[in-house]
Amino acid sequence: MVLAPSILSVDFLRLREIIEIINRSEAEWLHLDVMDGVFVPNLSFGFPVIKHVAKVTTKPMDAHLMIVEPQKFITQFRDLGVEALTVHYEACTHLYRAVMKIKETGMKAGVALNPHTPVELLTDILDELDKVLIMSVNPGFGGQKFIPRAIDKVYRLKEIINQRKSQTLIQVDGGINLETGKRMADAGADILVAGTSIFRAENPDEMIRQMKDG
Ligand code: DX5
Ligand code: ZN
Repeated sequence: MVLAPSILSVDFLRLREIIEIINRSEAEWLHLDVMDGVFVPNLSFGFPVIKHVAKVTTKPMDAHLMIVEPQKFITQFRDLGVEALTVHYEACTHLYRAVMKIKETGMKAGVALNPHTPVELLTDILDELDKVLIMSVNPGFGGQKFIPRAIDKVYRLKEIINQRKSQTLIQVDGGINLETGKRMADAGADILVAGTSIFRAENPDEMIRQMKDG
């Protein structure tokens, strides 16, 4: 199981320290949640912050864009050193074009689905994707309650992936802790994103260890 800690709900004055926790851990990726106040009802951080995160992180950066018109910014994320870029299905009229552009820059391409969006809508683009991100909360905020219905979506997506013999990975994001992470892994998830459960834990190093051990 691949783990991608999200820095969304950390104390940003302690960002270096937080990134060092991730660096020394067995977590594989560092998850960055970018919000624009339009696609989601919240603002988070953008290029000026990511530029500095890039200097300190030793883990590949996995950016999750909760913004409208994400295709406008693809090259800038690549130039900052982002390795995997995920755009929302609901934010892209020309999803195929956006995915192709991400791949042309050399980044891994992901598509995220809001809780109401069925996985079947991705069938015709699935083979082009490095990963699909299933949201298990409504995007916009850390620390929300896990939506159990997302488990069924992971099962269904895994089935489609297996049928097509596709290499696409399944990432899950929102309300993931030891318990929900295990349920998602059992359903077929390959990558867990977790913010609150790691960084609001008494001992984040230990929590990462436990999540990695499953
Ligand atoms: C929510 C973000 C998540 C968020 C997860 O919109 O996409 O990545 O940081 O946070 P927790 O783990 O607190 O639900
Ligand atoms: Zn995210």
